[in-house]
Formats: sequence, structure tokens, C-alpha cells
Amino acid sequence: MTTGTVRYLIRPGRPSDAAELADLQASVQLQRVTGGKPHPGIAAWVHDLLDGHPSVTPDDFLVAEDPATGRPVASLVSLRQDWALTGVRLPVAQIELVGTAPEHRGNRLTEQLFAALHQRHAADGVAIQMIEGIPYFYRRLGYDYALANDGAPTLPAAELPPRGDAGDFSMRPATAADAYALADLDRLLAADDVWTCPRDVAVWQYEIAGRRAADFVRRAVAVLVSGTDVVAYLVYGNRLSTAGDVFVVAAGALRPEDWPVAAPVMHAYLGQAGREFEAAEGRPFTAVRFLLDPRHPLVLHGPHGVPQRPRGWYVRAADPIGLLTRLQPALRARWQAAGLRWPEPELTIDTYGRAARLEFEDGTLKAVHAVPGEVSPPTSPSVHAAIPPAALLQLLLGHRDLPGLLDHWPDCLLRDRRTEEFLTAAFPTVPVHLWTRT
Ligand SMILES: CC(C)(COP(=O)(O)OP(=O)(O)OC[C@H]1O[C@@H](n2cnc3c(N)ncnc32)[C@H](O)[C@@H]1OP(=O)(O)O)[C@@H](O)C(=O)NCCC(=O)NCCS
Repeated sequence: MTTGTVRYLIRPGRPSDAAELADLQASVQLQRVTGGKPHPGIAAWVHDLLDGHPSVTPDDFLVAEDPATGRPVASLVSLRQDWALTGVRLPVAQIELVGTAPEHRGNRLTEQLFAALHQRHAADGVAIQMIEGIPYFYRRLGYDYALANDGAPTLPAAELPPRGDAGDFSMRPATAADAYALADLDRLLAADDVWTCPRDVAVWQYEIAGRRAADFVRRAVAVLVSGTDVVAYLVYGNRLSTAGDVFVVAAGALRPEDWPVAAPVMHAYLGQAGREFEAAEGRPFTAVRFLLDPRHPLVLHGPHGVPQRPRGWYVRAADPIGLLTRLQPALRARWQAAGLRWPEPELTIDTYGRAARLEFEDGTLKAVHAVPGEVSPPTSPSVHAAIPPAALLQLLLGHRDLPGLLDHWPDCLLRDRRTEEFLTAAFPTVPVHLWTRT
């Protein structure tokens, strides 16, 4: 496929690109950290993605090739994964390793690569794209900040509890044999009204024992055991960050009631890990940085720590009404939990262009259809709620609840109190426990 200017060919990656893509990405990513030298962790990550990764194939890379040399000069990779919410599985693509060789910048190659990517994802039914990255930059490509996966307070090393075990519970590094128990645990957590990114057995095995040692996204995995049973897990950085932190990316427990005891055991384990890194790396261990939702139980059952401002993740949903359609089981469960039934046959949410018509039978949601929107949704008698698409995306992801939207968007309008009550129950804010797949 060719897009944009005639100079560059935009094409899928190939196994034979491995060395060149590793060199390209290692020489453009995180240059502030390396002082302008190639980043070995990035090179190892690219090699892992192109060789033996459980869900990524070379085809998931998109490459801009300079026809004059036939060499890749810009690329990105789309990391397909399913996220879960109340048992609903949502196909998501995380975009990573976006980079252009310095001598080829100024040609809008990222824009061209994203155009090809979005076309491909529309054809494949990918519901949303997400990316972390340069502030503001991806807004230009149709992305908006609509999720936040951190913001939990940081624990200074001195505040960590000293002891590691409690009663029957103890921590140990995970082995590949634990993958079965961890996959079971993830399956259970996927049923919660919380965003998670469940891993199956093969993926857990890969996280524990499959990546190259230098891979930038390789993490340490530890398990909490009771007797011989795995009852919880903890995933953290396998070295100190540049700031001297041990960062935590995930933690999950089989039984929520274990957290008051499990959390201090994990905090102590992280302290021990930090001191071991300090000794091995000859740099001070300063703190544990939780890249977790502030409502995460590992955080709630610990010392107060130093508050952090949550960062945002960019998200793009080309079709928010399609996303609403996929999330129907979550809506049904929430209305049922709130004891609410809709008294009319339909409820119409108009997004200023297209509208979602929700159909009910005996007060229960039966179907969602995309229909053309009204010219003036707020004044149309058939419209119950007018919600701009960017606001609807935040509502669907649980980034903001309905009162939050009404505060921020003057063009978010509701017909009456009953609609407000019904939609408020449908869309609570949702904790984000996403350790995404990279
Ligand atoms: C970011 C990057 C991929 C953009 O490369 P590119 O697509 O070839 O972009 P161009 O040089 O053609 O610039 C396109 C536009 O983006 C802007 N832009 C480029 N880099 C930018 C940056 N780091 N921050 C903000 N804007 C940037 C340019 O100013 C230009 O704006 P204009 O249209 O108003 O003139 C490239 O600079 C790069 O590889 N940087 C290092 C790696 C990196 O930071 N990757 C992103 C990780 S999330």
C-alpha cells in the first residue's frame, strides 16, 4: 500500500526488518536517558516483538520505507490485546515505538503511518486505540485523554514496613509453572466492574520467563502464596528507575478480603527488592512508585505516601456508538444492581451527528442501534440525551461520570431527571487496573 507523498512507501513490517527496526527505534527512543546513545532495552524489546512474542507478528508493525534506499526510516507497532470489564472483552490496540529517523523528519511520516493503522483497525474491528506519549501530539491524530492508570501516592523507602511475611502468607518470585494459577486469577478479575487486561497461560509464561533479559518492558513477577496456593500477584520493574524508584505496574488478589494482610506483605517485599537493586546497581533506592489507580487495594491498604498527579492515556474510538453497543452487558448489570428499569421502549443518546437508539423490553436493555442524529438534538423530542462524541468516550470508559461530564461540557444536555438518574447509574467512574500487553 502507498499513502501520502510519493517518496515513502507505507507497508507492514517483515521478519527481515528486525535488525533495522531495532536499530532505528533504539536510536530515536528515550535519547534523553541515554545521552544520545542507542538504547539497548528498546533494541531488545523490538527483537522480542519480532521473534517469539505470544501475540505480536511482524505484520503488526507499520513501516515507512525510503524507496531510494529500500530501508525503514519510520515505524510504529500496534499491540493487540483484549481488555475486560464486567466480563465483556474489548479488542484494543496499544500503539508503541513511534519514531522517525532524524534525517527523515518533516515529512509527516507519523501522520501517514497512523492513517494506514486506523484504516486497518477499522477493517479488523478494533474498538479503541490507546497510546502513552508526547503531550498534545496525538490529539492532532484524533486522540484524546480518556483514561488514567496512575496517580497513586508514592511511598518513600523509609515508610515501607520491615517484615515480609504475615501468618500463612509469604511472597516469592513467580516461576513459569505459576502461569496456570495466574491465568485463573486474571479470568476471575476480568468479571469485576474494573478495567483489567487479562493474561492467559502462554502470556503469563512469556512475562515470567520468555523475554530477553534486556527487554525494556520485562518486569519482575512475584506471587503471594498461602501454603502452596497462589493467592495474589505483584508485578514491578526489574531494576531501579532513573529516579531510584521501584515502580509497580500490577497487583491482583484472588479474594478481596485478603488485601488488608496481603498489601503490607507486598510493600515489605518491594522494600526488600529495592534494597537488593540498590546493592546490585550501586545507586540509592528512594521510593516505591505505584503506577496504579489511587483506588487500587494495594494502595488503599498502605501508608498515605506522597500524592502524585495522574497522567493521562490517549484514546481514540472511531465509533463511540459501536463501543456503547459492545458494552451493553456492563450497562445491563449496572441497571440491574441499581434496581432500575427504563419505562419507555427506547432511549436515544444523540452525539451530534449520529445517535445511539437503545431498545428496551420490560425495562431491560435488549439492543443498541446506530441511527442518524437529529439536526438539533437538544430540542428534538425524540432525544433523551445529547452528548458530544469525545464526552461519550469518557463516559463509556468510566473516566468521568455523568455529573463530571455535565460540569465540563455545556453541550452535554439531558431531557429530564429520569434520564439523568438512569444514565448516572449506567456510567460510574471505573477503576483502571490495566497492566497493558507490550
Ligand atoms: C515524534 C516523531 C515520531 C515525529 O516524527 P514525524 O512524524 O516524522 O513528524 P514531523 O517531523 O513530520 O512533524 C510533524 C509535526 O509534528 C510536530 N512534532 C514533531 N515532533 C514533535 C514532538 N516531539 N513534540 C511535539 N510536536 C512534534 C512537528 O513540529 C510537526 O508539526 P507541524 O505540522 O505543525 O509542522 C519524531 O520526532 C521522533 O521520532 N521523535 C523521537 C521519538 C519519540 O519521541 N517518539 C514518540 C514516542 S510517544
